[in-house]
Amino acid sequence: MVARQKIAFLLETEQPVENILVKGWVRTKRDSKTFSFIEVNDGSCLKNMQIVVDENTPDYSEIKKLTTGSAVAVWGHLVASRGGGQKWEVQATRVDTISLTPETYPLQKKRHSDEYLRTIAHLRPRTNKYGAIFRIRSEISWAVHQFFRERCFRYIHTPIITGSDCEGAGELFRVTTLDPSIQAGQFDEDVYSKDFFGRESNLTVSGQLTAEMLALSLGDVYTFGPTFRAENSNTSRHVAEFWMIEPEMAFCDLDGNMSFGEEMIKYLVSFAMDKCMADLDLFARFVDKTLLKTLENIVNSDFVRIPYKEAVDILLASKNSFDFTVSYGSDLQSEHERYLTETHFKKPIIIFDYPKTIKPFYMRLNDDNETVGAMDILVPRIGELIGGSQREERLDVLERQLASVGLVKDNYWWYLDSRRYGTVPHSGFGMGFERLLMLVTGITNIRDVIPFPRTPGNIDF
Ligand code: 4AD
Ligand code: MG
Repeated sequence: MVARQKIAFLLETEQPVENILVKGWVRTKRDSKTFSFIEVNDGSCLKNMQIVVDENTPDYSEIKKLTTGSAVAVWGHLVASRGGGQKWEVQATRVDTISLTPETYPLQKKRHSDEYLRTIAHLRPRTNKYGAIFRIRSEISWAVHQFFRERCFRYIHTPIITGSDCEGAGELFRVTTLDPSIQAGQFDEDVYSKDFFGRESNLTVSGQLTAEMLALSLGDVYTFGPTFRAENSNTSRHVAEFWMIEPEMAFCDLDGNMSFGEEMIKYLVSFAMDKCMADLDLFARFVDKTLLKTLENIVNSDFVRIPYKEAVDILLASKNSFDFTVSYGSDLQSEHERYLTETHFKKPIIIFDYPKTIKPFYMRLNDDNETVGAMDILVPRIGELIGGSQREERLDVLERQLASVGLVKDNYWWYLDSRRYGTVPHSGFGMGFERLLMLVTGITNIRDVIPFPRTPGNIDF
């Protein structure tokens, strides 16, 4: 019995290998009079394996029926390729058809637009580009865990279903088992008492509040999980379901938080350039010709750090005409963020000390009573990649903050407890994993870095 081997491993070998078995899908086939060349891809890497089948191979007439998309099992020997273009090829001794694919197969060999491929998201991972992005996604997920593990961070799991709105933006997906025929008008507070959890509950918008509880016990922790926001905006940078990486660090102030965010971005970008080059090269050639230069710039530059007020000064002084007006006290729009990082500084920047009025209740109040210890990291082409802060660790200040934004203290009794017993300065942030992948690959639409994107009005697949 010969076991199936992955093409990725076979292509790495130094020596010819006898008696191998590969299984995969036909990308292309060329027939000559006495033999056929079949390009087979098994998804383990970007490259195909060239299979040479001569007319004396058993069932040669069946082999001739194979078309793009058909699935095959190939037995044979890995030998040095006689043609140019590849080091190795397989001299087939037997080819079994696992399944034939009709000509209606939508992925015939030609370039397809990203828009079209989104309509066949179930098949697009079979293309070179999407195969590459989803392999990179897998590699960088591992690198995230490796990064934290090397620094003695504990991987924790925070709830997906919660009763709180961490960010206070109200972008919640409600979780309920109530009869959908209950009309909106009947949805008073009392209705929730009949619901599954006995009170209003929703999908998490951030694991932070509970992650803080673990940080205040285990020291340094992180989450890496699905996050949900019912943000009704159809932009190229927002999805309703995304993956967020959230480190939370005890005994860490805002400066430490900023340094850690910078270190993490540089680590993950370097990792991609070191370990994913075979796939990344495709993006550098076909998606964004400046990609590698941009990535090197990120790894090699010191991120600029400026307070929010200075960022607004720069925007007000710029000659650029923005769609949204800039003013002190209002949130920066994506166009402002991109102007600062792409046009003005031409490298990643960290903006800190935002007005408290535009940030959530948990951020640490500064001595000026007006700003909080928030920090956002902005990168070229994406804008905001990281959002975080030092947390308010003083019980009395936190209680005042809750009250001032109209949150009910009783609902946060456990959160307040953590400030009552052994409170310490601590900080953390969230990084959108899809945004990181956009940065690394040069892909400009977030829908193309997650296999099955969820956006307003779209729940296909
Ligand atoms: O800035 P945000 O809202 O921060 C928080 O949720 C904090 N509680 C995190 C923390 O301190 N532990 O979100 C963090 C990051 C953003 O910078 C962005 O990269 C990403 O999450 N993000 C989204 N990514 C894709 N689609 C969306 N709708 C996103 N909303 C936020
Ligand atoms: Mg944010």
